[in-house]
Amino acid sequence: MTSLKWWQTTVFYQIYPRSFADGNGDGIGDFKGITEKLDYLAGLGVDALWLSPHFPSPNWDCGYDISDYENVAPEYGTLDDFKTFLEESHKRNLRVILDLVLNHTSDEHPWFVESKSSRDNPKADWYVWMDTQPNNWQSCFDGDAWTYAPERNQYYYHYFMKQQPDLNWHNPEVKKAMWDAIRFWLDLGVDGYRLDAIGTIFEDPKLTPHTVPMTLAELRRFSDTAKTPKEIKLKDKYWHDMFKNQWGQKGVHELMKELRAVIDEYDERMLVGEDDNIDYMGDGKDELHLVFNFPLMRTEKISPAHVHKNQKERLGKLDTLPKAKGWPCNTLGNHDCSRIHTRFGDKVHDAELARLNAALVLTMKGTPFLYNGEEIGMTDMMLADISQVRDTMGSWYYHVIVTDMGVHPQEAMLRTAEMTRDKNRTPMQWSNHPNAGFSPAEANTWLPINPNYKEGVNVYDQENNPASLLTYYKHLLRVRRESSALKEGEYVPLQTTAREYFSFLRQSPAQTVLVVLNYSDQAMELDFTRTKEIRNSNLRTLFTSAERRSAELTPKFKIGAFEVFIAEVERG
Ligand code: NOJ
Repeated sequence: MTSLKWWQTTVFYQIYPRSFADGNGDGIGDFKGITEKLDYLAGLGVDALWLSPHFPSPNWDCGYDISDYENVAPEYGTLDDFKTFLEESHKRNLRVILDLVLNHTSDEHPWFVESKSSRDNPKADWYVWMDTQPNNWQSCFDGDAWTYAPERNQYYYHYFMKQQPDLNWHNPEVKKAMWDAIRFWLDLGVDGYRLDAIGTIFEDPKLTPHTVPMTLAELRRFSDTAKTPKEIKLKDKYWHDMFKNQWGQKGVHELMKELRAVIDEYDERMLVGEDDNIDYMGDGKDELHLVFNFPLMRTEKISPAHVHKNQKERLGKLDTLPKAKGWPCNTLGNHDCSRIHTRFGDKVHDAELARLNAALVLTMKGTPFLYNGEEIGMTDMMLADISQVRDTMGSWYYHVIVTDMGVHPQEAMLRTAEMTRDKNRTPMQWSNHPNAGFSPAEANTWLPINPNYKEGVNVYDQENNPASLLTYYKHLLRVRRESSALKEGEYVPLQTTAREYFSFLRQSPAQTVLVVLNYSDQAMELDFTRTKEIRNSNLRTLFTSAERRSAELTPKFKIGAFEVFIAEVERG
């Protein structure tokens, strides 16, 4: 019997509602569509769903600009549709967590509309207002972080777009209103929250200006063109320095403690922070349940050396929390970054690398988060025309570099296609029918469909194909579900100096499992006869991506190029 909590042994699957499944044929995903796909998700073998924001929103930032925290965006359906979705998910043992955006609301939220209307209305102090523009801070999406509101003859602060004004979290009324909104969904039965951008909630109270000799647009352009190691180092320093007074400031820990107390009024709910800072787990019991291991994916290439180093650092720190050890949370992709298949491919062995990386996330110690579409190998899709861009951060950048910097529109479009998050948010590819079965053939989908749905990158074609990536994910998820070591076991790194393959043990009281991920294109002979946990045992294959003649191996065995090999270490 495991003493772990459900969110420790769960595999989460992120649904991007706009792009998951279109149930009413308008080209936009919705709850009817998601609900129809719950059997697919249960069959895939995941345990919980994280929904990116489903609330009413003018969609300047694809739903991360919320105009009503207690309702459903009309394009996604009604509150009743949400309730049906939740009930049907729970019936299938799929838990559901929502996205919680604390830092800012939409500028169309009634709170902001009222706050902006005068200097003395009841919500006048709910946002961050200044009489004059106090410094040179930038918004990380679109230029100046201060926007003038003529109604008050004052400036308001926004870390993100000007349509996303920052709430003033020093005001207790803001907290109360937000905690009420949280309780609204918890009362309906949701299982927790993913917390958006918690690092940005507070700013430096001294309003210290940044020292970077550039605007945001100039810095982006500089980053695009930086080539030499010196330029690359400088650009990283500039990004850090530009925003260091606007995030990670005092106050977040106290706020997370208050939020945790609200969550703990309910049984068995959880919080995962969109931050890699383990300090946000507090003493292990009083802040967030999980934070993401983003350093794992913050690399050009997933290599054994990178993963070993990452695990050493993360697990070392998680073990030192004073009240309870912290639990890891691993992911390689989400709606904000290039898709795994593209980003961590090498253009020659993309398929093999995608399988290795899936196995990595699903076998490392911790709670895995998968992103919709990665199980069928969806790739980034480069948009060709600015009229197709929906991510306003992308269209803003395009217009600035064309208009203010004289960049040729063709070059600007190429750059925009690479930097916009639209490329990894295209609709889910369900079949090889027109519109990839996401929407009816005649619908205009909100983002174009990646044409590779016609080449096997779709659920229908992969579902009954034993050699497909989807079958591979299902198999791996089943092996994980049936293995106490993979779900709960401690992590024991092995042969840490090997450059080509990554190997480790997972050990639970009931089981020891060996995982070997060969990241090289060479077959090789491995020798674990000096590893004390293995040397006197046979290995019983639980999973392999290669053809093997025997299910039983000794601790000295051959591994194929790019092979994923998972075996139980037999006892006695
Ligand atoms: C992080 C979210 O993941 C991203 O999509 C969004 O644009 C920003 N936070 C602002 O809410």
